[in-house]
Amino acid sequence: MSLLVRGANQVVSPIGDRARRGSEISFLETIPRGVVRCEDGLVVFVGTEEDHQRRFAPADEVLDADGGCVLPGFVDPHTHPVWAGSREDEFDRRLRGETYMEIARSGGGINATVRATRDASSEELLTGTLRRLDQFLLHGTTTIEAKSGYGLDLETEVRMLEVIHRADAVHPVDLHPTCLAAHEVPAEHRDHPEIWVRRLIDEIHPEIARRGLAEAVDVFCEEGVFDLEQTRRLLADAPGYGWKIHLHADELTPLGGAELAVELGALSADHLMCVTPAGIAALAASDTVAVLLPGTSFFLRSAYAPARELVDAGCAVALATDCNPGSSPTESMPAILALACLGMGLGLAEALTAATLNAAAAIGRAHELGSLEEGKRADLIVLGAPTYHHLVYHYGVNPVQHVVKAGKVVVQNGQRSHR
Ligand code: NIG
Ligand code: FE
Repeated sequence: MSLLVRGANQVVSPIGDRARRGSEISFLETIPRGVVRCEDGLVVFVGTEEDHQRRFAPADEVLDADGGCVLPGFVDPHTHPVWAGSREDEFDRRLRGETYMEIARSGGGINATVRATRDASSEELLTGTLRRLDQFLLHGTTTIEAKSGYGLDLETEVRMLEVIHRADAVHPVDLHPTCLAAHEVPAEHRDHPEIWVRRLIDEIHPEIARRGLAEAVDVFCEEGVFDLEQTRRLLADAPGYGWKIHLHADELTPLGGAELAVELGALSADHLMCVTPAGIAALAASDTVAVLLPGTSFFLRSAYAPARELVDAGCAVALATDCNPGSSPTESMPAILALACLGMGLGLAEALTAATLNAAAAIGRAHELGSLEEGKRADLIVLGAPTYHHLVYHYGVNPVQHVVKAGKVVVQNGQRSHR
């Protein structure tokens, strides 16, 4: 099965099979009036229409980009897409002055979503997740990392990860499951958090590993949640389970999470709103990707991560939504790009690389995703605008017109197709 995407004003993509850093993050290959040919789920040609005609027979199917801009599909390397209920009441309390942590300590926050998620059936969780995946896809995201973490008991953490696997099997968006059972201390263990840490290490992580439900593990390393020493113990068995490591690091306080992520050889250190100069230096000297989540800063009305310093220091910087019901309820990478540029000071080309190739590197997939090159997965989007600048310039609307996932048109004219 072959598909030719033609009629574009331009095809634009970062190039390479690893994260781009420093000044290289803004290098994009631009092919005016370029075409992309997909075969059996992979990109087999990116170039001019004339070259394509010389080398290939007509394709089985043609998608007319109609003067739009063709880009790689977004990779979202940090999401919490499985939950029940919603927290708009807390949002209103925060608007009137309470902080995220004050609300969490008064029984709201993550534990409020945990109560709703434990009470929901797996079918209800799956339905909600698929609804969110449709939004991811309509906004141009073709691959996400997906965390558990609203169960905080073995049964519900397992159910969440099973829902992630079931959603991956039936929905075009690819999901990469991460065990985040260490997302918070559940209410029943609040008085003795060490008992919860031991249960995670001795029962919950081993059982999830035994069932093969996760490819990575994450911990919310934060004052009042899991400190550095607990986080180190929680992650000690990860290599033995074959799990990659992501870390919620230096989000609300400068604990040294970035340095710990580097020390442990983590794929990514995420959030980093409070990262210290030592943390930036450690990241710059490592392969750990700095995953920035400007939607969370925007939604919590807190400081942005020092994106400029991180890029200029030579760190591998990626962007993600952090899609979750408490601190960033959005599936939209275009919204995140707008905040990355207008809130954190990234340039457009930097933000695009951070949301595609570098985001793929943050989940260990830069060799197969994140750019439009021969041999990579045929995941691409067509904007209803002539250049990629319109992604941010025309802000607050969805610029994504068509989406191709693994060589199939799955969104056409802003609507889901091929159900
Ligand atoms: O990434 N930091 C911890 N976890 C989420 C928030 C989850 C929630 O509030 O439900 C985050 O911001
Ligand atoms: Fe998060």
